[in-house]
Amino acid sequence: MADESQKWVLMVTAQTPTNIAVIKYWGKRDENLILAINDSISVTLDPAHLCTTTTVAVSPAFNQDRMWLNGKEISLSGGRYQNCLWEIRACANDVEDEKKGIRITKKDWENLHVHVTSYNNFPTAAGLASSAAVYSLAKLMNVQEDNGRQGSGSACRSLYGGFVKWVMGKEENGSDSIAVPLVDEKHWDELVIIIAVVCSRQKETSSTSGMRETVETSALIEHRAKEVVPKRIIQMEEAIQKRDFATFTHLTCADSNQFHAVCLDTSPPIFYMNDTSHRIIGCVEKWNRSEGTPQVAYTFDAGPNAVLIARNRTSAALLLQRLLFHFPPNSETDLNSYVIGDKSLMEDIGIQDIKGIEALPPPPEIKDKVLAQKYKGEISYFICTRPGRGPVLISDDSQALLHPDTGLPK
Ligand code: DP6
Repeated sequence: MADESQKWVLMVTAQTPTNIAVIKYWGKRDENLILAINDSISVTLDPAHLCTTTTVAVSPAFNQDRMWLNGKEISLSGGRYQNCLWEIRACANDVEDEKKGIRITKKDWENLHVHVTSYNNFPTAAGLASSAAVYSLAKLMNVQEDNGRQGSGSACRSLYGGFVKWVMGKEENGSDSIAVPLVDEKHWDELVIIIAVVCSRQKETSSTSGMRETVETSALIEHRAKEVVPKRIIQMEEAIQKRDFATFTHLTCADSNQFHAVCLDTSPPIFYMNDTSHRIIGCVEKWNRSEGTPQVAYTFDAGPNAVLIARNRTSAALLLQRLLFHFPPNSETDLNSYVIGDKSLMEDIGIQDIKGIEALPPPPEIKDKVLAQKYKGEISYFICTRPGRGPVLISDDSQALLHPDTGLPK
């Protein structure tokens, strides 16, 4: 390694997407290695609307590991971050930057500290899982086989764009538990995704402890993992290949509902969805039924937010109209921050202001006035997006979030 007195800083910046499962991962067969009890399939969301930019830096001048999230320093004393850092360090290899005259050997990593800073381009309340830091650290430390699972199992599916399968694997050491790209984001580019971020003050059970309790106490989870999911995985892969939206919707909704059913079958029961989530399901089910062919699929993770996947732009616009009719914003909310991401959908439906929302007629499938109820303020905001690409490294240092001389946030 270069002389300790030399205060060089070596950095890597990456942009990583998030993903949403259409066949859910819930339950581990190995807690330490993060190995799942069933395969899962997800769609990667367009990083233009939802992504995490992370810069990681290493320098002999750093005297401790430090981390900043959206500009605020967070404590690294929690076990998870530390374990995660040590796991990646253990896989580090020699790194050489000829231009800067830096050489770090595999052994040096044990004594070097890192700075990590991440910034989300979406409001963090969305609570969508992302483990961008691991990807960037693996690149910085020249980790050869980054399985992407450190920190969070579902994160490994964000290593690719489009639709991705996380194969649970059979090996005890997890060597065959890997993410596999199924189709890239261009394969089914008609799909439009709307995320309804639901207002909730409730602190949710973390996925890690939730799934542990389910595996320990639910009798249904074994049936799900052994009998139901393997068949669904085959059917889902075929539906994706053929762009068969009806089958895709049927499987996606059924799997989300079964995931929440095993949560309810856990002792004590875990409730992730709330009344607003249930109202959204009701609205989508009613509309799909009235159309005869499904227009939109819904799926919910470990929280009340709805992820709605529309078959195309036309159905996405009709969906947004329905959502805005039932869930108008509070009077103090600015429309510009109520529908974010790809705002062009708002132009499609010709809504420019709150008055436009108030003037929306009830959806035609609703005959009963009581069902045409409005639930003002139950949704924080909507994010409009689509399937997107996998992570990318950003070579332009001016886009780094850490200062190249000090390794501190800019
Ligand atoms: C409901 O990946 O957050 O989103 O591996 O314990 O960190 P850990 O859990 P995590 O679980 C995600 C669960 C889910 C379904 C899914 O994404 O497949």
